[in-house]
This record gives sequence, C-alpha cells and structure tokens, in this order.
Amino acid sequence: MQSFSYYSPTKLHFGAGAVQAHMADEVAARGFKTALVVTGGGSVRRNGSLDAVLAALSAAGVRAVEFSGIEPNPRVTSVDRAAEVCRREGADLVVAVGGGSTMDAAKAICAAAKFDGPAWTLVLDNSLVKDALPLMTVNTIAATGSEYDNGAVISNIETNEKLPLMSDHLWPVVSFLDPAYTVTVPPRHTVAGSCDAMSHFLEQYFVKDISPVAEGLIEGILRTVMRDTPAVLDNPADLDARANLLWASTLGCNGIAALGSRGSGWPCHAIEHEVSAWYDITHGIGLAILTPRLLRFFLEKDAGFLPRFEGFAERVMGLAPTEFDSREALAQAGIAALEAFYKSIGIPAGLSELGISDEHFEAMADHIVAHWVAPLEAFPVPFTKADVVEVLRRSL
Ligand code: NZQ
Ligand code: ZN
Repeated sequence: MQSFSYYSPTKLHFGAGAVQAHMADEVAARGFKTALVVTGGGSVRRNGSLDAVLAALSAAGVRAVEFSGIEPNPRVTSVDRAAEVCRREGADLVVAVGGGSTMDAAKAICAAAKFDGPAWTLVLDNSLVKDALPLMTVNTIAATGSEYDNGAVISNIETNEKLPLMSDHLWPVVSFLDPAYTVTVPPRHTVAGSCDAMSHFLEQYFVKDISPVAEGLIEGILRTVMRDTPAVLDNPADLDARANLLWASTLGCNGIAALGSRGSGWPCHAIEHEVSAWYDITHGIGLAILTPRLLRFFLEKDAGFLPRFEGFAERVMGLAPTEFDSREALAQAGIAALEAFYKSIGIPAGLSELGISDEHFEAMADHIVAHWVAPLEAFPVPFTKADVVEVLRRSL
C-alpha cells in the first residue's frame, strides 16, 4: 500500500428527484445572484433536466442566463464565448446541465471567466488557473465522472489538439445525479459512456503495484458495468441498472480508485485523446477499440504483468483457470473475453471502420510526448514513441 493524501471537496446528491429536492437550497445557501446555465445540443431540453434546474434557480431567487450549443469534444472557442457572457452578465455561479462535454466546458468557462486572456492559454499551462467561478453540475449521462473530479478535456480544432485542464479550483461545489435523466441517452452514447467508465477503472487496474482495496473496488465496478450495460440496452428505462452505471462512472476519475496503488500514466486516454483530436470521434468508442490492443501489448512487453491479467481473467471476466493449459492462455483469454464484450455491445472492430488511417500516427505520438500529463516512461509498462505508434497501428 502506497502512502497518499486525498481530498475531494464536491458534495453529491444522488437519486430520483435530486435536483428538485436539493438544488434550490444549495444555491440559496451560498447567496448566488446570477448563474450561467451551460448546456449542449438540446438533449437536456427534451429530458426535463433543464426545466428542473431553471425552476430550482428561480426558487432560489437566482437569475439564469442560458448558454447552449456546447459540442461533444467541447471546443475552446465555445469556452471563450461563454466566459465573455459570464463577465458581461456578472455571473457568480456556473451550472452545467448535460454530459461530460458540457461539464468540461463549464469547468473551463469557470476558469476562463477569472482569467485575463484566451482559455487555450490555461489549457496549455494549467498552473495559470489561480481562481475560478464556482460550478454546480447536473450530469445526464453515465460516462466521464467529470461531475466528481477536477479535470476537463478541451479541444482546439484549429491545431488538432485535445488536452486536459486540471486544477483544484475546478472541483464542482455540488453535483446532482438523477438516474432518470440518463434514461434518454441513446444506445450509441450509452455504450460509449460505459466503455469510457470501464477504461477509467482499467487504467487504474493494470498497474504494477495495486492496493488490494483498489483491486476489489475496481473489479466489482467493472463487473457491474458489464452486467448493467446490456441490461439498459435491452431496457433503456431500467432505472436500477441506469443508477448503477451512473454511480459507477461517477467514481472513475477523481483518483479514489487509485489510492494506495502506484500511478499508471493513463496510456489509453493519452492515445485516445490524440485520435479524438484529429478525427473528432466519440471518446468511449475510441477507448474500447484501443484497450484490447494496449493490454496485449503490455503483456507482450513485460511478462511480470501476468498475475494482474490472470486475476482480471478470473475475477472480472469470470473465466475458470482450470480450463486453460497455461497461465499465459488464461491471461490472453481474459483479454479476448473483454474484446468479445465490446463487440457484443456494438464497438467497431478497428479504427479503420471510423475512417482513420495511419497518416497522423507519428504526429499523435509526438504530441503525447510533448503534452501528456505523464511521461511515456511512467506508463505501466514504460513506452517509447514507437510503442505508441505500434499500438495505434494494431488498432486499425
Ligand atoms: O449535446 P447534447 O444534446 O446534450 O447530447 C449529448 C451528446 O450528443 C448526448 N446526451 C448526453 N446526455 C443525454 C444525451 N442524450 C440524450 N439524453 C441524455 N440524458 O450524448 C452525446 C455525448 O455527450 P458528451 O457530453 O460528449 O458525452 P460524455 O459524457 O461521454 O463526454 C465526453 C467528453 O468528456 C471527456 C471526453 O474526452 C469527451 O470530450 N472526458 C472528460 C473527463 C473528465 N472531465 O474527467 C474524463 C474522460 O476520460 C474524458 O476524457
Ligand atoms: Zn475517459
């Protein structure tokens, strides 16, 4: 068990009617006057979450200024425009209603509204975030965990870059999680969200030195997501399964599942963000395509990883060791079973199905070296630039 210090200052309200029951009180207690309400492409108008938020703000005596149109893979141009609206309207609170893209954009807006300069400057140098407007989130999709972490991921389509913005100023003050709002998520995004959540836990599971507490937590969450994703694809209105997916995903990115373990550098996310930056693909789909290739590469590069893969095959994928001739065969079967799961929920077989070629792979690897939050040597198996390109090539 590694030593750690941990603090996550976000208050959560989880369950049916969370917004109606708690938002007005939470807002009124802090004395806010004007809220910028940030939304995406319209889903929150159709599922009732935006109406509930506007009613709660009104009940708290807060003026709401709406800013809609945040894109999936949110763009820095939208962040700059919204920050300007914050300043012009004198917003003292930002409320994000939507998915990870909306919440991430809202975090960047909170920081940019307090910064004298373009938001991209903050993305390139996160240490420049010295202050931020307070943020509340109403998450409507089980996926990123942005509602319970201090990170955002922002895209710049002019430069083909998609980079993290992380700061302790960006933890939401309060997040509201009502599983009923996730019932309207279409199958494709339900699948992408589950694959994203799984990837967050897999990034924290395939590490050299895992705390047994983290190991058990992650294995239980992975089993839950793999059970309940097909359940909601069969019955989108299955509220118990939706609730399980939402709570599981909420724990993905705030570091809680890595406490006591050695860090991993999050290689799958490093590589996927590059693919999204160049091709604007859906994050969770890209991760699911890359994951089996990356895991096989780990095992190939370092046989010392074998016990982790055996445990994964047995306790997460439910395989019986006695049915395999060797430990290696069990480990490989675990990865194959994960790949079969992805296929069963509709994940494409490779990146080429998304129209991606190897044209930019070298540039992607260079960009990871220059900008990713961890060096390649900090990946669970130390990587070279050529290894990044190789994993991408195998993922075509
Ligand atoms: O734009 P709207 O109309 O709201 O529609 C969205 C969008 O089309 C739709 N949707 C969301 N909730 C819905 C719904 N449709 C119907 N009913 C609902 N209740 O789903 C589509 C995808 O939304 P998006 O917000 O893009 O999805 P997600 O939550 O997966 O967020 C993805 C973004 O988050 C970043 C990703 O890279 C990507 O840019 N990430 C953020 C992280 C973080 N902050 O911690 C960590 C992740 O690893 C990830 O990188
Ligand atoms: Zn992710």
